[in-house]
Order: sequence, then structure tokens, then C-alpha cells
Amino acid sequence: MVSTLPAHDLRSQILALKKERNAVILAHNYQSGEIQDLADYVGDSLGLAYKARDTDADVIVFCGVHFMAETAKIVNPGKIVVLPDKDAGCSLEESCPGDQLEAFLKANAAKNYYVIAYINCSAAVKALADVICTSGNAIRMVEAAPADRPILFVPDQNLGEWVSQTTGRKMDVWRGNCYVHVEFTRDSIQRIKDEHPDAVVVAHPECTLAVRLLADEVCSTEKMVHFCRDTPAKNIIVVTESGMLHRLRKEAPGKNLIAGPTDRCACADCRYMKMNTLEKLHDCLLNLSPQIELPEDVRKRAEAPILRMLELSR
Ligand code: 13P
Ligand code: SF4
Repeated sequence: MVSTLPAHDLRSQILALKKERNAVILAHNYQSGEIQDLADYVGDSLGLAYKARDTDADVIVFCGVHFMAETAKIVNPGKIVVLPDKDAGCSLEESCPGDQLEAFLKANAAKNYYVIAYINCSAAVKALADVICTSGNAIRMVEAAPADRPILFVPDQNLGEWVSQTTGRKMDVWRGNCYVHVEFTRDSIQRIKDEHPDAVVVAHPECTLAVRLLADEVCSTEKMVHFCRDTPAKNIIVVTESGMLHRLRKEAPGKNLIAGPTDRCACADCRYMKMNTLEKLHDCLLNLSPQIELPEDVRKRAEAPILRMLELSR
């Protein structure tokens, strides 16, 4: 049963439970504003992975999606890792099942692929990768790849193609995508640009090429914070999931932040990210459930490429 306390009581109970459990609350930039405001740290996948690895807390409450909480468990296995809703998945993760990638690599063993896996994937896929990347360091991970091996980039086609174009390195790219970011279209972004002719556009690299071509800057969610603070432009169209606007309004006050629309809606929500609620956050702290658990052999194999990424990202 999910708690039904008024929001104010829920917030104070969450903080009390957090203290009692010696827990840390980590939240992704796409979480609801009320969850972000309660978190000890809010950031992108890369920042969250570092925080999860380095925390002294006994319990990590991961307010994000499943692969992010799983990554926290992989890099810090001694901790209890809980996430408010165990069904908070990701369309990118779904687009690349571990057994399919394994079969593909077996069938193409002669190519001796260097596999770069975007962090938005399961532990089983991470366990098959040479290195992990996030949107914040994908360029660096591709530049650090051995020059004498072909790269297979999984699972995001749009991020892969953006990195390939930016670095000039040819790669074979898995054909997965983020169902949220591919909802933005050339027309939906052009229309909002026409309404705000002096606005600059910042877009996530999970967007399609047609949308990226309309952007002044393409970057991870954390880098969006720096872009919005530093640009002299007052009006900024933000082409990513809607939760980002809450973080940006706090970090770049004085800027007029305009949500990038899709053809159907004024902004785009990730249904998985929004499965987490204050009530479920309260209950997962109270019950220490649902917890992330992983077979140790998979965890160990998935850990090596993540640690390689964290080392290369310093
Ligand atoms: P960031 O690492 O840029 O926050 O992206 C995570 C994500 O899920 C984007 O859809
Ligand atoms: Fe996955 Fe897209 Fe949601 Fe990010 S926004 S968690 S990539 S479905």
C-alpha cells in the first residue's frame, strides 16, 4: 500500500527516515520538482554514478530509472540500493536485450568490435561492453577507443550518430532510441523558434539529427545547466525531458526557459522517470524495498567498463 499523507508531512517523514537509515537521496534531472528539492544531489547519469560510488551512506535511494540504480549497485555493491518504483524502466534499455547483443557479437566475432555501451542499458549489456559512456562523456570515450578496432556503439542510434559526426570516427551503431527525445520533430522545434526568434536552442543528443541541426548546443543534461548560465541569450528553448526545467529555473534564474514542444504536447515527459512519487520515495525508505540485487558474476563484469569510464572521465 502506498502512503497517503499530506505532502508536508510526507516530506518531513522522508527526511526523518533518511536520517534514521543513514541514507543518501540521489535524483536525476528529470525527476519531479518535489523529488529534486528533497534530494541530496541532483544531476546527470555521470554525476550520479560518481556520487553513488563515493557515498559513505548505508543506503542509496535512487530517484531515477532502473538502469541508474543498477549502476549505483554495480559500483558500490556493499550498499543497500533502493528505487521508489522498480518498474521505472527506459526505452533505450529495452531496445538492446543482453542476449541479442551477445548473439550479434558472436555472429560478428571476426570483427573484434570494441563495444561502447551508453549507460542507458542493462547490467547484462554493460557486462558485454569494453567501456561505458554517458551523454556527458561519449565524445571522450570514442576518442579514447583503440584506433585499430572497429567500434560498435549501443544502444542509442541518435547519440551514436552525433558522436560519430562530432569526432569523425566511423562506428557501427545499434538502432535503439529514446521514445521521449524522438518525439521532438524539426517542425515542432522550428515552430517554437519562430515564436521566439531571438531564443537559442539547447538539445539533448538523444534527439534526431533533424532536431540537432536546429540546436545551438547539443549536450548532456548537466552541461545544459552550464550552457543556460553562461549564454548571453535571455530566451532559451530546452529540448529535453520536462523535469530539466525545474533544475534550470533554480540554477539559471533570470533566464526565460522555454520547454521544447513535440507535435502533440507543449513539453515531453518520460513516463518512466515520472513513475517515482513522494509517496513511493517515502515507502521505499521505510521498507528498504524494492532493492536492486544482481548476480555477483554479472556485477563484476559490468563493473569493469564502468570503472574504465570513470577513470577516463576525470
Ligand atoms: P543525461 O545523462 O544527459 O542526464 O541523460 C540521461 C537520460 O536518460 C537522457 O534521456
Ligand atoms: Fe530512457 Fe528516454 Fe526516459 Fe531517458 S528520457 S530514461 S533515455 S526513456
